[in-house]
Amino acid sequence: MQTVSTLDMLRKTVTSLRQSGETLALVPTMGALHEGHLTLVREAGKLADHVAVSIFVNPTQFGEGEDLDSYPRQLAEDSAMLEAEGVDLLWAPTASVMYPQGFASSISVEGVSSGFCGAARPGHFDGVATVVCKLFNQVRPDIACFGEKDWQQLAVIRTMARDLDLTFPHVSAIHGIATVREADGLAMSSRNRYLTPELREAAGTLPLAMKEAIARIEDGQDITRSLAALEDELLGAGFDTVDYADLADAMSLQPLEQRIERPMRLLVAARIGGTRLIDNMAVGGKLPEARA
Ligand code: PAF
Repeated sequence: MQTVSTLDMLRKTVTSLRQSGETLALVPTMGALHEGHLTLVREAGKLADHVAVSIFVNPTQFGEGEDLDSYPRQLAEDSAMLEAEGVDLLWAPTASVMYPQGFASSISVEGVSSGFCGAARPGHFDGVATVVCKLFNQVRPDIACFGEKDWQQLAVIRTMARDLDLTFPHVSAIHGIATVREADGLAMSSRNRYLTPELREAAGTLPLAMKEAIARIEDGQDITRSLAALEDELLGAGFDTVDYADLADAMSLQPLEQRIERPMRLLVAARIGGTRLIDNMAVGGKLPEARA
């Protein structure tokens, strides 16, 4: 595996990987890798001849008072994990390579960025969109893989890629990869390591309560009441606050009070012991007509 941290070396390495027309997949990350990231790497390896992973803790997507300083950084450990997975290229730029002095641009994706995490974390998705656009332009991968755990992020990136023609001439496809979960169902996240054993146990309520809410909604029960019961369950289990627990159109992310015939998604963000956890799950099942 080649580890590079300058744009010049990145271009040389990418050119040499692509020498005989071979394809390249990019897996953008902020490091602190876990099995969820490694699953993205393995899926990327099935989709392209070579895999590049980027590790960059992007300051512009963290708000004031968020965990930018304490966000886990473990480049040597991450690098060893990627090497063991057979990754070809590790792109690990410094903040000054990514944001040179005088950097003045920002990408804002209207609509899909505005609710949910966009409302709870103002400016977050502008930071994500800008850095991902830069990563696409820097690495010029054929495809890119992102986790479905960040469902709204995936929607923001897909919208940006379509609107800004990033899918031509490079990044012909953006792949969403299913969330990898712990044994109790908690979605894997670099932030899970902030949890004490007691809080970690309580956090397992999140996927269970979501599944129960989905069962109620699919059974035709009132959506508002089903979501309120989900919030109550989380607060009762030790969560401090629930930023949102909403049903939405899976593609447009428009919040829903009634079921629709298109794919739906339950999206939740809740805080426990100062750690903000997010999760989302598909909602389908019988439509109201079928139940009548
Ligand atoms: O999902 C992440 O880890 C980050 O938001 C990303 C896509 C690498 C951009 O910094």
